[in-house]
Amino acid sequence: MTEMEQLLAATTANPAAGVALPFSAYREPEVFECEMERAFRGDWVAVCPAAQLPEAGDYVALSIGGEPVVVLRGRDGALRALSNVCRHRGTPILDEGCGRAGSLVCPYHAWAYADDGSFRGAPHTGNIEIDPVRHALPRFALEVWCGVVFVNVDGRAEPLAERLGDVARAIEVFGMERYDTAIGAFAPEVWRANWKLIYENGVESYHLFKVHKDTLEPVTSTRRAFYVLGDARAAITGGPIEGGTEHQFVVAVPPSFVATLTRDLFGWIAIHPEAPDRTRVVTGALVPRDVARWADRDRDAPDPLTQAFLEEDRLMCERGQQGMQSRHSRGGQLVELERIVGDFHQYLGARLFDQAPAPVHRERGVQP
Ligand code: FES
Ligand SMILES: [Fe+2]
Repeated sequence: MTEMEQLLAATTANPAAGVALPFSAYREPEVFECEMERAFRGDWVAVCPAAQLPEAGDYVALSIGGEPVVVLRGRDGALRALSNVCRHRGTPILDEGCGRAGSLVCPYHAWAYADDGSFRGAPHTGNIEIDPVRHALPRFALEVWCGVVFVNVDGRAEPLAERLGDVARAIEVFGMERYDTAIGAFAPEVWRANWKLIYENGVESYHLFKVHKDTLEPVTSTRRAFYVLGDARAAITGGPIEGGTEHQFVVAVPPSFVATLTRDLFGWIAIHPEAPDRTRVVTGALVPRDVARWADRDRDAPDPLTQAFLEEDRLMCERGQQGMQSRHSRGGQLVELERIVGDFHQYLGARLFDQAPAPVHRERGVQP
């Protein structure tokens, strides 16, 4: 069997009784290329909170499935996702990262573009006329869902409001419009692990008691974690917050978005793969402006608890990637707490192989 056939076989399992994916899927370039085309350029990828780009010219430049993209707020107030590749000879225009740009001027020969991507001019062209229509920057689909900017490079993904209807209803009780203030800077970290290890680790609550013994487990324990709903499109799990009556949710939107939702924090990682064994991980967070815990703090500083447990996650994902090199071992049975990993495998089956996914599965609804 080829690597792709092995992966296909693993994604056909019943999500309630799945097995770990074949290790080759976490290291083989052929699998990675297919994932970049079908899951990352072909689907919605989370970027950052819209509130992190409040002013005209604020931008985030990044690579989505290998495609250089800039998300930019225009002078008209609109957010756009534009190609970050110059129409002259293909040089990236803005450096990756975030900042404020007065205009889009290529660093090579200074061809210039307006903040809606239209061509503005080129210096020293002699007698040659540059057709402005043919030389505009391509634009990509962009949507803001619960305050988070998502981009779909190929423009063919189903609208997020349709795809995430069940999820939106399940989290409505939190009052998502309350989370209006971005904290933390756009600061990608590079993790030495395949993106799927990071996604799978981000969604399952099985490892809390072991990996996050002193950070997350005392707040929300493995033992009391539960499943809310899910299918190939998205899934939610949850758990009571110790010492109170409130719950936290984990909201997972493959391939790139894993969020934790509590009454006073909507925080997430956005997963941006660079290579089979290398992934950029960007934290993002929105908080309600009226929550005392966030008053008077440095808005660019990340949440300390999030930093602490993400470091624990990074170490475990990088350790897991070492195991993916094995040709003499294979993954085993997923347990009940890993049903949400089974949902992700359904996603891969649907996205990469056009398989019909299992119907939405519901276990319980809770009040936050
Ligand atoms: S490549 Fe951008 S101006 Fe020449
Ligand atoms: Fe974790």
